[in-house]
Amino acid sequence: MDSKFGIGSLSIALALLLSFAPNLEAELTTVKQATKSDGSISFLVVGDWGRRGLYNQSKVAHQMGRIGEKMDIDFVVSTGDNIYDDGMKSIDDPAFKISFANIYTSPSLLKPWYLVLGNHDYRGDVEAQLSPALRLIDSRWNCMRSFIVDAEIAELFFVDTTPFVDAYFINSEGHNYDWGGVSPRESYLQTLLTDLETSLRESKAKWKIVVGHHAIKSASIHGNTKELESLLLPILEANNVDLYVNGHDHCLQHISTSQSPIQFLTSGGGSKAWRGYYNWTTPEDMKYFYDGQGFMSVKITRTEMGIVFYDVFGNILHKWDTSKLLYKNLDFSL
Ligand SMILES: *[C@@H]1O[C@H](CO)[C@@H](O)[C@H](O)[C@H]1NC(C)=O
Ligand SMILES: *[C@@H]1O[C@H](CO)[C@@H](O)[C@H](O)[C@H]1NC(C)=O
Repeated sequence: MDSKFGIGSLSIALALLLSFAPNLEAELTTVKQATKSDGSISFLVVGDWGRRGLYNQSKVAHQMGRIGEKMDIDFVVSTGDNIYDDGMKSIDDPAFKISFANIYTSPSLLKPWYLVLGNHDYRGDVEAQLSPALRLIDSRWNCMRSFIVDAEIAELFFVDTTPFVDAYFINSEGHNYDWGGVSPRESYLQTLLTDLETSLRESKAKWKIVVGHHAIKSASIHGNTKELESLLLPILEANNVDLYVNGHDHCLQHISTSQSPIQFLTSGGGSKAWRGYYNWTTPEDMKYFYDGQGFMSVKITRTEMGIVFYDVFGNILHKWDTSKLLYKNLDFSL
């Protein structure tokens, strides 16, 4: 694939297009997700996992089942790279069972799974991985390019980040990417950003979470994704997003800077990890970094949200929580 657009010209072109974009209705598919009876939700987040149970994938899966039961989770989020090395070959690809259906078998994980695609998924037949026909094999599978999960108190905005990354277009390093549904790239990205911006702006949810495969900020081997820093981050910051959650780097990581109200969370420890790389220059912004396998849980109530990172033994590695007042003025009289 050739691309005549460097990151600079692409961002300028998109910025121009966005500023003149008509105020269209949001086009992103919305899936309704029920809450618990008290209105709260809880879920797990795992990324970068589909390796036939190897590299501790099965151990992480087992602990997800245990923590999932404890928390009575409502669903599971995957941050992408669902099937290694090269996505799915067809809807009949045995990898779907070997790396997903037969691995995450704990009763507590028999809930909807909401999945984005990662760059490795784009190396296979993307339409196969997106196909609703996979639900005949395993009804949990909800994989789309970009979509919204509406859980009343919280909305989750799933963003297809792979097409943002210039490197895959400029030098694919011998890999074949299935860009069938993405071309022409510029209008694909423009439409996605416009739809996301509209949906975020119109969202009445108390908590807003954005999920993508690639990190906006990361100390691990892939580092910050500059295309997302310039094109996606400003939209998230302008629309009161609480968390940006990603995979891609095979670690667990929590970054929070004084320049941004967003918590940047990496949950990419679903299987192969331990890359032994760390490059971050502002230690005060790095709230937690773990190079090994694990996953994250999220619990959200009307007034509180908390995240926890776990390792391959289910040990708690890191916790963070925050709160928002229910009714600012009434709280004093109650
Ligand atoms: C599995 O997890 C253990 C504990 O973290 C770790 O020591 C080991 O290296 C991991 N195995 C692989 C293949 O990553
Ligand atoms: C560390 O990251 C910075 C950018 O944040 C980069 O310029 C530098 O080359 C990286 N260092 C290493 C050793 O990779």
